Amino acid sequence: MATEQQTGQPGKQTEGSGNGGATGPDSLSITDNRTGRTYEIEVTDGTIRGMDLRQIKVSEDDFGLMSYDPAFTNTASCRSAITYIDGEAGILQHRGYSIEQLVEHSSYLEVAYLLVFGELPTAGQFERWEFDTTHHTYVHENMKTFVEGFRYDAHPMGMLLASVGALSTFYPEAKNIDDPEERYMAAVRLIAKVPTLAAFAHRHNMGFPYVYPDNDLSYAGNFLSMMFNMTERRYEPDPRLERALDALFILHADHEQNCSTSAVRDVGSSQVDPYSAVAAGVAALYGPLHGGANEAVLRMLRRVEKVENIPDFLEGVKKREERLMGFGHRVYKNFDPRATALKRNVQEVIEATGENPLVEIAMELEKRALDDEFFTSRKLYPNVDYYSGLIYEAMRIPSSMFTVVFAIPRTSGWIAQWLEMNDDPEKRIARPRQIYTGALDREYVRIEDRLGAEKITGPPAKRPKKLRRGA
Ligand code: CMC
Repeated sequence: MATEQQTGQPGKQTEGSGNGGATGPDSLSITDNRTGRTYEIEVTDGTIRGMDLRQIKVSEDDFGLMSYDPAFTNTASCRSAITYIDGEAGILQHRGYSIEQLVEHSSYLEVAYLLVFGELPTAGQFERWEFDTTHHTYVHENMKTFVEGFRYDAHPMGMLLASVGALSTFYPEAKNIDDPEERYMAAVRLIAKVPTLAAFAHRHNMGFPYVYPDNDLSYAGNFLSMMFNMTERRYEPDPRLERALDALFILHADHEQNCSTSAVRDVGSSQVDPYSAVAAGVAALYGPLHGGANEAVLRMLRRVEKVENIPDFLEGVKKREERLMGFGHRVYKNFDPRATALKRNVQEVIEATGENPLVEIAMELEKRALDDEFFTSRKLYPNVDYYSGLIYEAMRIPSSMFTVVFAIPRTSGWIAQWLEMNDDPEKRIARPRQIYTGALDREYVRIEDRLGAEKITGPPAKRPKKLRRGA
């Protein structure tokens, strides 16, 4: 709760006056120099409530003070018990377990359970979870027809975005977002079916027949089978690749309130069904500054082409002609613990798949950047996407599929965050404020009286007849 105290004359300092200033260790005193009033605002968990600022007004009819925080760089949007990050110290924990421990001892499906339910499962709980997430991997046959409707060269992330959204039409009962059984089924179905939809998108691009899930394989092994199996015979995944992919899945499972998770929470706050909310997450992840960075890393390495070109490339980055993709992070300013864990896997994957010239360029590029003052002074270190791109490349996963593969494990994080958001007693529809900068109170001008308008917009260009018919 915030309380307001009148402190006398406008603009006067109130310190030590006895009726202003902070009175407790967990409060903040704000003096509004426009009015001279001091407000005492509670500090909880290192934050003040944005709404407590609203009482700060210059007059009765004033709307009240707001905070301006584009990109929400200093605004906590929720309370969450799922993922803890200390960016300065390079710490990432899920439900209190360090990412290093989880990568070493756990499996992706177990981590997904941990994220969703808050605890590591008992043997019995895990058995049911594994059974359910394995036996819901099939999708309705109409989903195949849906994916087939895309052009042969459609980006697989666009196909995934559409098909995850389309799942809501197959499970309309998921709109009962307070029904525990529906919530459980949505979590299971999303975690189980996203790999199937991801692999269908790839097979569609390649013009290959779709491969149905194999329930006898592990989560990662089944995904490799759906991606790469080209014969009637059972696909036997290389255990080294299976292990590396599972580790990648663990490392990508959740990352607290990033762009896509915030999108899931924002859209979910409208009480839409979880499939539609998660589709919003897929859309956000598509962007090159978020999940799209791993694909951008590979495009960059291909452009560099050979080790000899690295110095010129780095000069270009320093001149701000381009960015060193896969480097830098909004939160991690020391090192990205996911990148550290992943780097260990790169070698094992290369042993399984054979040398790859892009991997050599990547290793050398990293070494030189880490030796360069431009990058070290700005605390730019490799992030998770630098190595994940390399591992996918070594596994012969096409670069257009990288973000899709990222979306597979992030689905468990999105659904865990969606569940937590729906249980939050403080939840309300997300609705930020704005600072309006446009015109006001203009008189409407009829179209025939608008001078010069045609110069700006012009009439719609007529398309050639031939094109119009074919379109
Ligand atoms: N290459 C070159 N310079 C960079 C880079 C980069 N990758 N990243 C940041 N900088 C520079 C930037 O120009 C700025 O320099 P100056 O202070 O001289 O103007 C300084 O470093 C700070 O950068 P910023 O843009 O203010 O940092 P940010 O926190 O807003 O951006 C970032 C973080 C991840 C968007 C950015 O580092 C970036 O664009 N990296 C490349 C894309 C990438 O790898 N993204 C994946 C992020 S990890 C996946 C995830 O968790 O979602």
